[in-house]
Parts: sequence; C-alpha cells; structure tokens
Amino acid sequence: MNQAVLFDRYGAPDALYATDLPVPVPGPGEVVVRYSAIGVNPIDWKILGGDLRAHVSMELPGGRLGVEAAGVVVETGPGVRRFRVGDPVVRHGRPGTYQEYEAVPATQEADELTPWPARFSAEQAAVLPVAAGTAYSALRQVQLHPGERLLVHGASGGVGLAVVQLALLTGAAEVVGTASARHHGLLRRLGATPVEYGDGLLERLAEQGPFDASVDCAGGPQLTATAVSLVNVPGRRVTVADFQAPERGVPFLEHVPLELASTLDLIGHSPFELPVAARFPLAEAGRALALGMRGGLGGKIVLFPGR
Ligand SMILES: NC(=O)c1ccc[n+]([C@@H]2O[C@H](COP(=O)([O-])OP(=O)(O)OC[C@H]3O[C@@H](n4cnc5c(N)ncnc54)[C@H](OP(=O)(O)O)[C@@H]3O)[C@@H](O)[C@H]2O)c1
Repeated sequence: MNQAVLFDRYGAPDALYATDLPVPVPGPGEVVVRYSAIGVNPIDWKILGGDLRAHVSMELPGGRLGVEAAGVVVETGPGVRRFRVGDPVVRHGRPGTYQEYEAVPATQEADELTPWPARFSAEQAAVLPVAAGTAYSALRQVQLHPGERLLVHGASGGVGLAVVQLALLTGAAEVVGTASARHHGLLRRLGATPVEYGDGLLERLAEQGPFDASVDCAGGPQLTATAVSLVNVPGRRVTVADFQAPERGVPFLEHVPLELASTLDLIGHSPFELPVAARFPLAEAGRALALGMRGGLGGKIVLFPGR
C-alpha cells in the first residue's frame, strides 16, 4: 500500500490524516518514485490554511501537501528514457510529496525530478529543492558578485541558511544575517555575521553596512524598510516571503528554470549542509507542521514514510 497524508478541508495541522492508498501505476512519460525522506516547508501550512487558494490549485477532498522529497525510481512508464528503475532522484515543484509512492512526470521540461547526487544523504537531498533552489534564484536575481557584501533577513531559516552558504560559496566578502539571538552561533559557524532583529534594527545594520544587495527570507514592513534604506539599487533587493514588499521597493522573487539542477552545479563538491532541526514519521505530519508554524527552529523538518 501507499502510505499517504491527506486533507479534506482547509484548516489547521489537525486537518491532516494518514491513510493508505493504492501504489500508483506510471502513465506514459511518468515514473513512480518511492520516497525515503520528505521536506516540510512553510508553503505546506500556507496551502493547508487556504492562504494560497488563489495561486495553488488543490483538489479537495483528498488534498496532498509536500513540494520536495528524495527517493528511488521503482517503476517507469511507457516512453521514459531519462530514468531507470533504481535511480535515486529528488522531487520538487507541484504539491504532492506527502506520500510514500508518487507517479511523477519524468521529462526535464516538466522539471519535477533531478538526479540525486550521491554525496547527499536522503534527508539532505529531500530538503535541497526549496531552500537551496530558492536561495540560488534569489542570489541570481540580485546579481551577487564575488567580493560583495550581502544583507540577509531571516538568515536562520531554511532559505536563509542556504542563502548564507551559497553567497559565501559565490565569493561574497561578507554576509550579514538577521536572526534571533539563539541562532547567532549557527550563523557564525557558517561564516556569517549575525544581527538580532527587533527594535533598533536599522541602526545596528547601518553600523555593519554598506551592502551591495539584500535577500529577505522573513518579510514584514521593518525588514523591507531596512533593505530599502541600506541597498540603494532596487534591482539588487529581493524578497522571497513578502507579497506586500514590491509596493515598498523590494521586488518579489522570480525562480529561474531548472533551478535545482543549476543549484547543484554551483554547489558541486563544496561543503553545503542544511541543519535538520526535527524529524517525524510521515503519519505525524500534522505534529511536524504545528512545530514548524511555531517558528524558531533554526533548520528544516523532515518526514520519513514507514510504519
Ligand atoms: N517565494 C518562494 O518561492 C519561496 C520559497 C521558499 C520559501 N518562501 C517563504 O520564505 C519564508 C521563509 O521560508 P523558510 O523555509 O526559510 O522558513 P523558516 O525556516 O520557518 O524560517 C523563518 C525565518 O524567519 C526568521 N524571522 C522571523 N521573524 C523575523 C524577523 N522579525 N526578522 C528577521 N527574521 C525573522 C526566523 O528567525 P529566527 O528563527 O532566528 O527567529 C527564521 O530565520 C516563508 O514565508 C516561506 O513561505 C518562499
């Protein structure tokens, strides 16, 4: 059977329930992937809460969350040449990974599957697409060059931790990241300069400036205002989190095509790791989302299928 977590109505994490579905059969151009690890992201609880109804189509009842996972191809449908049974893959994009088996379009153009590089463990591979992929697109958008200084808001979250690492990998001279004090040690270990958010943030950041570019991974008027004050050129600011920020001078993120493949090319064999702050069985996805919604984790949450 296919262990899956579904929801029938928009709501809180307790709207999620575990069930068994038939293992899917791959259609033409599809493969069936068996997931060993599944990443949890804020978009999961935003979809569940109904906040993204206008942007993400979801068939209810039987809605499926999850936009990233790592697993192995267990069956190929007619016409599939890109993957073979046994290939390790990372799944990304469209919601649907909160299950053990999934039928997924296999073509590169569909951009839902990328070969899983052997150097990454299952849980690391599962959490690469959203955090590292988004970080890659954000740094491309602000055109960060070697030797430049970057401001990152929300630097201790999944995306922020990836932005810090990719920026330093790109050759940034310094990365200054806002985060709560309990995550400053983590940011220092990664090579960033942490600054605590809250009252007086602009003054604290101005002491660290000037900055060539900014990436906002948290959102809110205060963070937007500091980015506008401290980075002069609008095209060198971006937010991944705040739909109101563009009206205030911080453009919203545009993802590049084949984002994960490009991200993996950039990382290559360089050190790159996203801290995993919590692990849950897939059947306890509701508890995992409730924990993520409380915030302050300093890393990713991963779900594992199995009984
Ligand atoms: N547009 C896209 O394609 C895209 C892709 C990925 C994510 N996102 C969005 O980006 C946001 C971040 O995602 P994530 O996975 O990184 O979430 P996360 O892991 O929950 O991280 C949230 C971050 O926000 C920080 N934060 C909270 N309040 C803050 C404040 N007032 N000032 C500065 N930082 C503050 C947290 O810091 P502390 O924990 O240190 O307090 C933490 O670093 C979410 O809204 C998500 O939906 C968008």
